[in-house]
Amino acid sequence: ADLSRANTLGLPCRAERFAEPANLDELRAALDLAHHEGWPLTLLGGGSNLILPDRLAGLVIRPAMAEWWLEEGEGDSVLVHAEAAVVWHDLVMALAARGLWGTENLALIPGHCGAAPIQNIGAYGVELSDVLEAVHLVHLDDGREAVLSPEACAFGYRDSVFKGALEGRVVITRLVLRLSRSPRPRLGYGDLAARVGAPPSALEVAEAVCAIRREKLPDPAVLGNAGSFFKNPVVAAHLATRLVAAHPAMPHFPQPDGRVKLAAGWLIDQCGLKGWRQGHFGVHGRQALVLVHLGGGTAGELLDFAGRVTEIVSERFGVMLEREPRLVAPA
Ligand code: EPU
Repeated sequence: ADLSRANTLGLPCRAERFAEPANLDELRAALDLAHHEGWPLTLLGGGSNLILPDRLAGLVIRPAMAEWWLEEGEGDSVLVHAEAAVVWHDLVMALAARGLWGTENLALIPGHCGAAPIQNIGAYGVELSDVLEAVHLVHLDDGREAVLSPEACAFGYRDSVFKGALEGRVVITRLVLRLSRSPRPRLGYGDLAARVGAPPSALEVAEAVCAIRREKLPDPAVLGNAGSFFKNPVVAAHLATRLVAAHPAMPHFPQPDGRVKLAAGWLIDQCGLKGWRQGHFGVHGRQALVLVHLGGGTAGELLDFAGRVTEIVSERFGVMLEREPRLVAPA
């Protein structure tokens, strides 16, 4: 199968075999077959946070179960069950339109629900972990089902157990989120508050977030990208103090643990790299944290290009940027 349209960076990738199980039985059958044949497994969701290699041996599985439903919770809460292939943004807009609060700041994040916990998607002051109640999954080795609590997911900034101990070992099949019927606007990030009425509706907040994102972030359908290519670096307080003294305009956000989060986009921008292009890749002209694929490039070239950006930032500021999208091994 040709996966070049199954990843938002638009990197060329050929998979030896590809399956889209539409329910748990089909998923287990695909896993059984892969074990029996000794095929390595690769899991794919919306492909919006991945760097795919040119070739993938074995079997690529992209879950296709895409139902979602609501369940009454205690008090004014509502539980949302969303299967792996539900498109995250569509779910967010449907919930906001029903006046349910909790996910509206996460509008327009590309990708499927099943992948959302892996990097604990976050934007505009909210992370998935703020609303996540449970993650249903199937173990790849024996097909057994399990349900993880938020604690067991070990969420951090763009991080979870699915990038650690459970990496490559499970397939996420369903999320359970807890939303609220009473208004809970979270408008503290940037100029979000100025863009909505007072009090705003959940839908208004979601629409304002969409508008802000559209101003800065390239549409993957038009220009290949995986959103932020680097994480915002969290550095020791003494380094942050020194950098802020030298660059008073530098955005910096003290963290609960005493360290300080810096804006990678600002650091790259200050190096004069916004809009910089080389070969088939570039730094996006409106948000320096996003690398774009101009077409015709490969994963190897992208990693070289990103390496140059990392080097330039590190020489200038002494801060090492870390990649944010996951690198998929050739299997
Ligand atoms: N900035 C610049 N130049 C740039 C980009 C940013 O000076 O080219 C400055 C901005 O002016 C601002 C600061 O850096 O002072 C932060 O910028 P912004 O608000 O655009 O957010 P970000 O830190 O660059 C993060 C997330 C985004 C998320 C936004 C909003 C990460 C890695 N990225 O970006 O997430 O949408 O905050 O919450 O944490 C993603 O993960 O793919 C993603 C898009």
